[in-house]
Amino acid sequence: MGGEEGPARQKAMELLVRYGEALGAEKLVDTNNVCGGISNDPFTRKYAAEAEDFDAVFSEFNLDSSVRVAIPRVKAFTSHLITGMDPEHWQIQGVEPAAYEYNQRREAFCSRIGIQCINTCTPYLVGNVPVKGEHCAWMESSAVVYCNSVLGARTNTEGTESVGASMLVGKTPYWGYHLDENRLGTHLVHVDTDVSSVMDWGLLGYYVGEVVQEQIPVLDGICGIPNISRLKHCGAAAASSGGVEMYHIVGVTPEANSLDEAFGGRTPEYRLDYGRAERKKAYDMLTTATDPEVDFVVLGCPHYSIEQLWEVCRLLEGKRVHSNTSLWIFTPKPLKDHADRQGYTKIITDAGGVLMTDTCPAIGRVHPKGAKVVATDSAKQAHYLPPIMGFETWFGSQADCIQAAISGKWKGELK
Ligand code: F3S
Repeated sequence: MGGEEGPARQKAMELLVRYGEALGAEKLVDTNNVCGGISNDPFTRKYAAEAEDFDAVFSEFNLDSSVRVAIPRVKAFTSHLITGMDPEHWQIQGVEPAAYEYNQRREAFCSRIGIQCINTCTPYLVGNVPVKGEHCAWMESSAVVYCNSVLGARTNTEGTESVGASMLVGKTPYWGYHLDENRLGTHLVHVDTDVSSVMDWGLLGYYVGEVVQEQIPVLDGICGIPNISRLKHCGAAAASSGGVEMYHIVGVTPEANSLDEAFGGRTPEYRLDYGRAERKKAYDMLTTATDPEVDFVVLGCPHYSIEQLWEVCRLLEGKRVHSNTSLWIFTPKPLKDHADRQGYTKIITDAGGVLMTDTCPAIGRVHPKGAKVVATDSAKQAHYLPPIMGFETWFGSQADCIQAAISGKWKGELK
């Protein structure tokens, strides 16, 4: 592509060629599915406050160009990932007015260039569901591992600049998880304990990620078929403790109809067992709290599905959140709209909780003032909240967390 499509697309193409060459990619491949966006971090906000307009911000941070170029509409279908705040609840979240105003400008710009402002780490829950074999360019580790493993679509873990370029030209470097040979299993994980609840799946993913790091585990021996909630929690956990971008479950995920298919006929490089002792190790790694007084309960990482909202409302209906505890639940905005219609938002609000969208505590760094001890059903949130926010963390089931929200005390599993 020369300059005939304008300077922004030319810069995007130059960036992708440079990036592809550095990676050793043999070519660029077409994509019509990009997930990324414009950052909300303080550095970008400061730049935006002094910049001429958002074209300049996009040029600098999404195209690696200190020269401002006019940004045209995106060529590839593009979904925005989470942002730094919920535009309805930013004040409860402790967000400064200047950051809120930046967010409004950012969103107006994204809409203008055709980015879908679904603002979630679970685009696959709200209409962005690539098909098996489809080449994508996604950021966000929990979304990437879901895309590769559960949907059988193909993406590497992209960055702000590469997705910025990909959305403008509809191409991404052809390397890594786009190639058949890089999608085969490396580690055989024999599961010989019951893995049924969402919590079980989070623990399994967390343990396996810690062991395999950036390689590809193949889970075998699991009874039953896990649903979306379980798979998204498993992948998010494995991508947190390790850098897992793809996993297989024999008989469940699309590229693992058999053990042989998952390994491409090769012998596994490593074998490991996952039993009760390994589950306990994962639990102990995730639970850092000792204080039973819980002042913050976080649900919805990765963002909750409508099924999880339905489940949480069954536990919460007619109950009251403890006066010393905040309950925040996160879901994509289109599902919040459905929850409003279905009466779920009212159930949560009547109980004293808040249903939020567009962000999460670990990434948005939003939290109730003074919170110190958090309970969560998310291994990913439990992994990141202590180092990022300094919280002590209890990890447990959704029911344990709701119990903690109501009583103000942790009564779930203990170390
Ligand atoms: Fe999503 Fe935030 Fe968790 S981005 S996966 S809710 S850490």
